[in-house]
Amino acid sequence: MLKISLLFAIISFSILKVAAQTSKQPVLKNKTNGIFKSEAEKAEVLYRPQIHFTPKKGWMNDPNGMFYKDGVYHLYFQHNPDSNVWGPMHWGHATSKNLIDWKHQPIAIYPDSIGMIFSGSAVVDEKNTSGFGKNGITPIVSIFTQHNMEGEQTGRTDFQNQSIAYSLDNGYTWKMYKGNPVIKNPGIKDFRDPKVIWHEASKKWIMIVAVKNKVSFYSSANLMQWTKESDFGENIGNHDGVWECPDLFTLKHENRTYWVLTSSINPGGPNKGSATQYFIGDFDGHNFTTNSTKTKWMDFGTDNYASVTWSDNGSEKISMGWMSNWIYAREVPTFNWRSAATLPRLLALKNVNGEIYLTSDARKFVNSLPKKTQQFTNGKGKLEVPSLGSAYKISFNQNNLSPYRVSLSNDLGEHLDFGYDSVTNQFFIDRSFAGVHKFNPEFAAKHISPRIEVSNNTSFYAFVDKASIEFFADGGLNVMTDIFFPTVPYNNINIISNNKKAITDHFEVATFLRNKK
Ligand code: FRU
Repeated sequence: MLKISLLFAIISFSILKVAAQTSKQPVLKNKTNGIFKSEAEKAEVLYRPQIHFTPKKGWMNDPNGMFYKDGVYHLYFQHNPDSNVWGPMHWGHATSKNLIDWKHQPIAIYPDSIGMIFSGSAVVDEKNTSGFGKNGITPIVSIFTQHNMEGEQTGRTDFQNQSIAYSLDNGYTWKMYKGNPVIKNPGIKDFRDPKVIWHEASKKWIMIVAVKNKVSFYSSANLMQWTKESDFGENIGNHDGVWECPDLFTLKHENRTYWVLTSSINPGGPNKGSATQYFIGDFDGHNFTTNSTKTKWMDFGTDNYASVTWSDNGSEKISMGWMSNWIYAREVPTFNWRSAATLPRLLALKNVNGEIYLTSDARKFVNSLPKKTQQFTNGKGKLEVPSLGSAYKISFNQNNLSPYRVSLSNDLGEHLDFGYDSVTNQFFIDRSFAGVHKFNPEFAAKHISPRIEVSNNTSFYAFVDKASIEFFADGGLNVMTDIFFPTVPYNNINIISNNKKAITDHFEVATFLRNKK
């Protein structure tokens, strides 16, 4: 642990600078000889997160098939176990009781002659509608795309089909259904990522699946025979890329139930590359309709993609995404593994001037971890941060909206800045000078998020976990998730704002106490 003392200085043009500084830069050492044997070993220490899921080794992208049963959250994920770049996709598997501490499980679903295992979902088939359950066992059924590489390479258009598998041991081992695929490709190259939900009103399973520039709905009584219902999205929302990984769920707000349709798109994100847009409206078992024509984004950062929600965990909607972007995901400077999942986020709705928006809240699950909270009042206090980068939450409230910039930096001069700019009315994360970036020319950049809230009160919190920041402003109306790669850990926190009182009254840092390296 490094002791860090807070220095307060009011600069002449009434900017308050709160600085947490170390006397010297921590020297990066491994435990044995003080020298890292390889870049891979160094990346383990510098970038392997503390409170986010990462695969033990190999490549990961989208979270898949998330369901909850008997106190256990299951997370599957797009996984290439033999390489740190995308390749033959399997479903990796991990389990957790609190959505933060993950136990690695053996690979769940392997590619077969129909194709690789692309993204999809899983449901607890409570009523055994599929008939897979024998002797009173409740089957879990997963529904995913099988991508046939040979088909793609020989120029066919029907190489993506929807298949199912089932598990009779609560999701640990899986059998492929012999009648796969259950939905054959209609002759469109991009036809993937089925998300299935139980639609209580019509007592049917509903599948939402991405089809090039829109989504299609299918219905089924047994998860095997599917009937096409309708399409949505061709003339609405963003169309600068291909639609992928859609989701459909309900949220209650002001005594009304709304249907929320999310759809990831790549490219086309508000700050380039991959991102997730959403629509709020109604779904009657056949069609999704919406009155709003605004394009809305779940997260304005560049590193939350393919975000979908858990199944069978009750009425709470918990989403998790892939914390990377197709622009540079294959090139980021980690070696044993590549990519992490975002923190789990509780979704809700908020009405801003008659328009309904999604809000995301990442605090609930993380807050259950042991932590050390340090509050700063009237500019006095001592800040202690662990030397080799632990995970922490920074937060403060403002009664009167004013610009601020929080800068995390190291003594090499690398810094990651985030905050609010009142001239443009935008939140931002600027990772232009955050550290290693040459692996991709588009990585070093400032990302912006136009403020949605109109009230003068504002609050923010941000989770920082070695190589990622998740920044939630105004109760999660504006969210930004970005990754970054400092050469050595940041050891300074500077807050620059002209609202001295708000910051010194409420500024807080909570460090999560983890046993991991
Ligand atoms: C989204 C995606 C999905 C696809 C999967 C393949 O990131 O492209 O559309 O199923 O990744 O790994």
